[in-house]
Amino acid sequence: MEKNETLDISIRPRTLQEYIGQDRIKEMLRIFIYAARQRKESLDHVLFFGPPGLGKTTLAGIIAREMGANFHSLTAPSIERIGDMVAILTNLEAGDVLFIDEIHRLPRVIEEVLYGAMEDFTVNIIVGKDATSNTIRLDLPPFTLIGATTRFGDVSAPLRDRFGIVHQLHYYGVEELARIVKRSAKIYDFPIEEDAAREIAKRARGTPRIANRLYRRVRDFAQFDDENCDCIRLEITSSSLSKLDIDEYGLNQTDHRYLRALVEMFGGGPAGLNALAAAISEDMTTLEDVYEPYLLQEGFILRTPRGRMATEKTYRHLGIERK
Ligand code: ADE
Repeated sequence: MEKNETLDISIRPRTLQEYIGQDRIKEMLRIFIYAARQRKESLDHVLFFGPPGLGKTTLAGIIAREMGANFHSLTAPSIERIGDMVAILTNLEAGDVLFIDEIHRLPRVIEEVLYGAMEDFTVNIIVGKDATSNTIRLDLPPFTLIGATTRFGDVSAPLRDRFGIVHQLHYYGVEELARIVKRSAKIYDFPIEEDAAREIAKRARGTPRIANRLYRRVRDFAQFDDENCDCIRLEITSSSLSKLDIDEYGLNQTDHRYLRALVEMFGGGPAGLNALAAAISEDMTTLEDVYEPYLLQEGFILRTPRGRMATEKTYRHLGIERK
């Protein structure tokens, strides 16, 4: 991780008030948090899904803060045994928020421990084997589980059904991303002009994490270009982003390799994801979770039952004539 990325923690909004975008989700959360607090209860379990970098973890942290609760954050692959999960749950205090990222990656047997925990705050552990085995029931304090996933379809139905609050995060608009960039610029104390912030926003694939990363890279170029630079302007922004191989739609080299392969090697499709991934030596899951959602949303590709297809827009963008 680049050093600056750790600073992400300090630019993360800490309250719903500070959080820019996802207005509908904020509006709902405000109501549910208010009502739960008034009843002096823990908030119902929450599931967030959507592409990476849109703020699922940030929102979970905000919920904990607004509930006045402790925040425990884990990723599913770090929970390897049933015992790990039981230990985490039995160490919770009343009202705590337990955040599990990539929750679709929990093995089924570990997931099953969560069912009772979520439903009636109990864990059943089996001690001993066969005829002499015994089930011991442990009571847990009331807590809130917040799950996050980039793959809603991979969350098993029994787990999904135990979340009372389920929200999809959507890509951000250019206005929202520009506001996020200006907010970060203020926190980093390195200002950016309005049109430059918008330029970053336009090329950030609807994603705050990318917008903030691009802001930091452009700031590097601006400082390198002029050591007395005190404000990031449009010209240096555009030239830096071009040097970083980010085109006017925010597509990077991987997007370009994907689209070129689809057009040039598969005649525009339909092509299967595994064939495409192999053709450009990329991981299938990364393409599906990280790259394709944005290409789909922007109309560069279509997903058909027979595979991925390039659109008119892709041919135009690549400057290739359709045969
Ligand atoms: N930084 C990253 N995401 C943000 C958001 N949604 N609002 C404000 N600042 C952010």
